[in-house]
Amino acid sequence: MPDLEPQRSEGRVALVDLTGAEDMTAALRKLQDQWGPVAPVDLEPGVPGWLVLGHAEVMEVMRTESVFARNPRHWREQLPPQSTLHAILSPTGRRNLYFSDGAEHRRLRLPVDEAFADMDEVRTAALVRVVCGRLIDSFAAKGSADLMGEYAAAVSFLAVSGMFGFDEQQGIDLLRCASEIFGHGGDPVSALVRMDQIVLDHVIATRAKPGPNLTTSFIEHPNFEDDTEIVHSMVIAICAANEMLVTWIATTLRRMLTDPRYTGRVTGVRRGLDDAMDETLWSEPPVANLPARYAVTDCTLGTAQIRAGDAIVMGVAAANNDPRVRTSDDLFEAGNRSHLSFGVGPHACPAKRPGRLVVKIAVESLMERLDLRLTDPVVKWAPSPWSRYPSTLPVTFTPERQAARTPARV
Ligand code: HEM
Repeated sequence: MPDLEPQRSEGRVALVDLTGAEDMTAALRKLQDQWGPVAPVDLEPGVPGWLVLGHAEVMEVMRTESVFARNPRHWREQLPPQSTLHAILSPTGRRNLYFSDGAEHRRLRLPVDEAFADMDEVRTAALVRVVCGRLIDSFAAKGSADLMGEYAAAVSFLAVSGMFGFDEQQGIDLLRCASEIFGHGGDPVSALVRMDQIVLDHVIATRAKPGPNLTTSFIEHPNFEDDTEIVHSMVIAICAANEMLVTWIATTLRRMLTDPRYTGRVTGVRRGLDDAMDETLWSEPPVANLPARYAVTDCTLGTAQIRAGDAIVMGVAAANNDPRVRTSDDLFEAGNRSHLSFGVGPHACPAKRPGRLVVKIAVESLMERLDLRLTDPVVKWAPSPWSRYPSTLPVTFTPERQAARTPARV
């Protein structure tokens, strides 16, 4: 377990040491014992911010945009050029819902809400099944696979890019760009330029030939002022979805493969799966530390004195574990939906239904087809300040004899 003491700078623990701790709940509790519901942390070593740990305080931040804004122009910090946080915390000139507040946010949010509301769920489910089936085809004969590298990451990206009408090759190109943007090697700045271009080309092609997809809904919406807003909104939706879906798929799979309460193939899978997915949302939320809001004015949050320009990260994992909203009594907790894994307030996730659909089909497709066994129960966490997911998920299974059989299209 990374040692929380000595801490990185001026007594602040770095977020990546919390998400990478062997027992993250204990690490968060220790922080809460030391600081109360709001703790000073390093977003990355040397970049200070606050981590909000209490459920009520996280809700307050999410719901009070007049004080805790999303637009990074309110942030005091200048990130060093080599920082991997640029894309997520302070990208320049992005015009989309994610980085805006108030009336501007509502204008840019409406097309996204309406596009998801109009989306054909039956068609989307069929698309996701094809994506999953083709990926499973690619390793089913081997008898072993790494479900992170060969499945979870690709399902998430191909499913969401498919909802926007991209073909498989475009989806793979977008995935490569996103991986660089999120700091996994390469050059994040040029990757973002490449991603914008792929998306812009697709917007132009879709305008000439509309189809039943989210890109067409975006193009037809009167709220977007120009193609830049459409492109920036598509890029953020594709990227926002990705990390969340990968983490939710991976943690649910791990739970299904390691916890006897959820195991059972084919007949038992649906009930066990719903429970495992919900438990994951509570105890291993896809985003453990949600970036970020910026204080517009000096204020008090919990017992912390926040200064205008400070960055505030919402500790979803800590808040979900707050004993004020969740007990350890399973019966008492039946129906409790107060976890914050999808956010609340104006920026709450607009894609809860499609997100759940992708994760459910991804896990179901695997469990129904292969008799998976985890080969190494010891988890190594991928380094991320925001999410906690295994870097690999190695499994073995009885190899399939038939050749690939999933058709390429819906
Ligand atoms: C199809 C998959 C998904 C898509 C396209 C998607 C898209 C988005 C978008 C566009 C936003 C920004 C909303 C805004 O700023 O107004 C967002 C926010 C968010 N999403 Fe999703 N999402 C997906 C899946 C998920 C999943 C699976 C989770 C976790 C269970 C999740 C959790 C969140 C959270 C926590 C926020 C931020 C809330 C905040 O900042 O207060 N999303 N999502």
